[in-house]
Amino acid sequence: MKNKKVLVTGGAGFIGSNLVKRLIEDGNSVTVLDNFISGYRSNLEPFSSIHIIEGDIRDISSVEEAMHGVEVVFHLAASVGNKRSIDHPLIDAEINVLGTLQMLEAARKEGVQKIVTSSSAGIFGEVLTMPIKEDHPFEPDSPYGCTKLCQEKLCLVYAKLYAIETVCLRYFNVYGPNQRFDTYGNVIPIFVFRMLRNESLQIYGDGEQTRDFVHVDDVVQANIKAADTVGVSGAFNIASGKSITINNLVKIITKGNNTARTEFCPERPGDVRHSLADLSLAHQKIDYTPTVELERGIYEYIKWAKGIMVEIK
Ligand SMILES: NC(=O)c1ccc[n+]([C@@H]2O[C@H](COP(=O)([O-])OP(=O)(O)OC[C@H]3O[C@@H](n4cnc5c(N)ncnc54)[C@H](O)[C@@H]3O)[C@@H](O)[C@H]2O)c1
Repeated sequence: MKNKKVLVTGGAGFIGSNLVKRLIEDGNSVTVLDNFISGYRSNLEPFSSIHIIEGDIRDISSVEEAMHGVEVVFHLAASVGNKRSIDHPLIDAEINVLGTLQMLEAARKEGVQKIVTSSSAGIFGEVLTMPIKEDHPFEPDSPYGCTKLCQEKLCLVYAKLYAIETVCLRYFNVYGPNQRFDTYGNVIPIFVFRMLRNESLQIYGDGEQTRDFVHVDDVVQANIKAADTVGVSGAFNIASGKSITINNLVKIITKGNNTARTEFCPERPGDVRHSLADLSLAHQKIDYTPTVELERGIYEYIKWAKGIMVEIK
């Protein structure tokens, strides 16, 4: 995608800022709408040419200002994660459902051609058949899974009703640079930052649960390809197509570190046991093929995390 006027909601966040970087490199004109609730201004500092609107996707005037003249929207702003949604279910629904609807309405009125929205494997809940295909039953285990499913359905309804294409990308577990450690963070940043602080790595349950980890570069690739593919609306899995147990993930992260410690803790509510994506539909419809091997991605992530630790000190 080149020379387009694009809007990235949630562009200051982990995935959004990686997407903004690629969009700028490809010569697009980028506006970011973000309220910085979980995003970082420093993620956007390298990009002097972007237009930043500090605002909320629930606020109509911010959304209309951000949407002005836009051809393609990448909608990533969200209340993110199972735990956050269990702690704050109403805020989760306001942002992910009503905020998305606000985006769709403004995009429709502005004549936007395409919306690529970020969904989640959390919509599936406990896995019945693996690898998980797009038509696997939806039984979310958290309010977040429910609101992401609702977000998807709203986007797809707009593609049916109006002259707008909508693509929903169901990310599995994403990791990579700009992914900070926080209480709502994902397992890779939590393990890596705890290891770097000489704290024990806490494994919930027996550690034999599996996850499909996808590098953020591949998620960015999927967003760009979804935007570039004309005539396609739909929902697609975005993952690596390979699963690994948490115990084996720990081995990769702690490789070469003889002082790393692990600690087993009780299972958490809302966590699924297994996860592995079938990527054939994403490959067929938007030409998505993952490229980053987990070991290399983790090695580079640890290097990035060490740099951030130096900045924090
Ligand atoms: N990280 C993952 O593993 C993962 C997995 C599945 C889906 N997703 C989805 O990908 C998208 C991006 O997630 P991320 O991991 O980069 O999270 P993130 O928290 O780093 O990014 C979310 C961004 O949205 C902004 N934001 C939140 N609420 C907002 C609001 N009301 N108005 C404006 N901006 C708001 C935040 O400030 C932040 O910059 C989300 O839609 C998330 O649901 C992420």
